[in-house]
Amino acid sequence: MNETDFIWVNGKMVKWQDATTHVLTHSLHYGSGVFEGIRCYETSKGPAVFRLKEHIKRFFESAKLISIKVPYTQEQIIETVKEIVKVNKLKECYIRPITYYGYGKMGLDTKGAKVDVVVAAWPWGAYLGEDGLKNGIRAKISSYRRPHPKSVPIHAKTTGVYVNSTLAKMEALGEGFEEAVMLDYKGNVAECSGENIFIVKNGVLITPPLDLCLAGITRDSVIELAKKRGINVIEKAFQKEELLAADECFITGTAAEITPVREIDNTKIGTGTAGKITAMIQEEYKKVIHGNNKDYLKWLELI
Ligand SMILES: Cc1ncc(COP(=O)(O)O)c(C=O)c1O
Repeated sequence: MNETDFIWVNGKMVKWQDATTHVLTHSLHYGSGVFEGIRCYETSKGPAVFRLKEHIKRFFESAKLISIKVPYTQEQIIETVKEIVKVNKLKECYIRPITYYGYGKMGLDTKGAKVDVVVAAWPWGAYLGEDGLKNGIRAKISSYRRPHPKSVPIHAKTTGVYVNSTLAKMEALGEGFEEAVMLDYKGNVAECSGENIFIVKNGVLITPPLDLCLAGITRDSVIELAKKRGINVIEKAFQKEELLAADECFITGTAAEITPVREIDNTKIGTGTAGKITAMIQEEYKKVIHGNNKDYLKWLELI
């Protein structure tokens, strides 16, 4: 990891190496925490956090879905995110707020368990590699399915549920692919291990609806930017066959940004390179995150 100087822990700035936790922390045993992934980018006016309010709103909603009462307001966490970038003197970075049941209580009953809140930030480059961003990645359709919506709240970024993503990611990497495409319990294409998914067919942009996937903030940004460029966007369920027959495919996420997919299960997607619409959306997104599109300065929170 690219270590920085400070991590914010329960209201205090703590030195990176001192931000440790007890081995009997509740969430370490039961996965009872929620987190966010946010990015900060360099702009001509200094570092700016992309869609900070939306990320913190989702953070609180995730917490609510697993009954964690965050002992801070959304405004306080927003200010903390800005502070953590500032004190670590970062220009571009990844930001990780997390809240979880802490030390002091064991067993599945979380009533009265201590709630910890942490915000960390560190430099993190292209999640799927620079080459992946440019030329596209190879993905595998995972043998692991996304959790049934009646098993866990699928709209919460719950730490424990990420074991599902870890298994899928490791399976894909183990077979020489870079990412895992995951189906839901019915066999619909849902999302990837840490990204939403889009296909392009005959000029139309198609993505699974929100009852099948996390409400990705990059997904939302892409839909808005595509519509603004006059592209027809449809949110609908589709299956593996439609995915493999797509003209283009790309995946979206805070970490992965907009990464083209050039091959799935050894089947070339379109021409087997980053498609035209994909490249255009990547370009638009890049302008927006670096503050070069005045219509979307509203998405940037300057430090
Ligand atoms: C399972 C999953 N789907 C989609 C996403 C993309 O969401 P976002 O664009 O808000 O980062 C993520 C990342 O948070 C994720 O973990």
